[in-house]
Amino acid sequence: MAEAVTMQLPAPRARVQAMKEYHPPLGCRDALRLDFNENTLACSPKVREALLAISMGSLTRYPERAPVEVIVAAHLGLQPEQVALTNGVDEAIHVLFETFLDAGDELLLPVPTYTMYEVYSSATDARAVAVQAGDDLEFPFEQLLAAITPRTKIIAVANPNSPAGSVATRGQLVELAARAPHAVVLVDEAYFHFHGETVMDLVGKVPNLMVARTFSKAYGLAGLRLGLLAGPVEMMRWVRRVLSPYSVNSLALACLPPALEDTVYLDWYVGEVLAARTEFEAALDAEGIRRWPSRANFVLVEIGALHGDFVRLMRAADVLVRDRSSDPGCEGRVRITIGTREQMKHAAAALHEAMAALRAGSKA
Ligand SMILES: Cc1ncc(COP(=O)(O)O)c(C=O)c1O
Repeated sequence: MAEAVTMQLPAPRARVQAMKEYHPPLGCRDALRLDFNENTLACSPKVREALLAISMGSLTRYPERAPVEVIVAAHLGLQPEQVALTNGVDEAIHVLFETFLDAGDELLLPVPTYTMYEVYSSATDARAVAVQAGDDLEFPFEQLLAAITPRTKIIAVANPNSPAGSVATRGQLVELAARAPHAVVLVDEAYFHFHGETVMDLVGKVPNLMVARTFSKAYGLAGLRLGLLAGPVEMMRWVRRVLSPYSVNSLALACLPPALEDTVYLDWYVGEVLAARTEFEAALDAEGIRRWPSRANFVLVEIGALHGDFVRLMRAADVLVRDRSSDPGCEGRVRITIGTREQMKHAAAALHEAMAALRAGSKA
């Protein structure tokens, strides 16, 4: 019998050893998934057609993203050199942090916010500086300005932000960029379509502004992993050095032009979500549940100490919602994605039952 050999396995970098594991919750496939802020229905039928027409050649050859970047740049009113397609916005964030964050640098983050900023920054040698929003979860503009130091290297602002759907104004973002000219101001417009306001037109005009967009939300292509980063040519050149040339696959590239073209579908879906949000907010108000004003396809609600039971009761009714209690300043709060009106009627019925069960339980 072979003797067991004790081997010293190679150790990862100290920074990686200190990283927390991140496990997004797994969902039951058949439930109504209101826990990830995706499109809850479907992508454009034009995208499905493009998928069915995929040739063998597109599977055997490495993907070529440059021609699609030309189309996307034209759609955004930018130069192709100002735009890079990425494997979701997550890759854009990852690559941007790898490109710019060095030891001794600071990443400024208004919190609570999207989890992956902290995850990716914790793999770098920079320090994440959290700027806590108040109880209203509004954009902490003055506090952010006060937190800028000569070491600030990136300021990451999701606009609208998650989990509350609050927004920064264009004026605030421009001033932030002006007050930190030595830093990259990343505006993550993942939920742009539901908000309708953008700073994409300032790319190349404000020298330190970069903007990210995703195709995972309104476009309904989260499974394809497709996002983009836009910024001044000079800064995009550095980013491209770090970015894998093949991280966006051929299927995603084939689907992007029809997704962009089908504005009728996009407008319909966004209109549906906005109408559903208004109706769902009325259901929350009828239950007397505190909610935060949202400019995105989700709403944050205050459930209180029984938040875990609430999430379980909703799950038992086949509606998945996201407990945000561990987000800074969000104890007892749950985020609910907004889908179509029909889906949200079902969600509202589940909500009424869950609240009735919680009330009955607390009286017992
Ligand atoms: C603010 C924000 N940015 C980016 C993402 C991720 O986008 P993608 O699916 O393109 O990686 C999310 C997803 O929830 C998000 O909330």
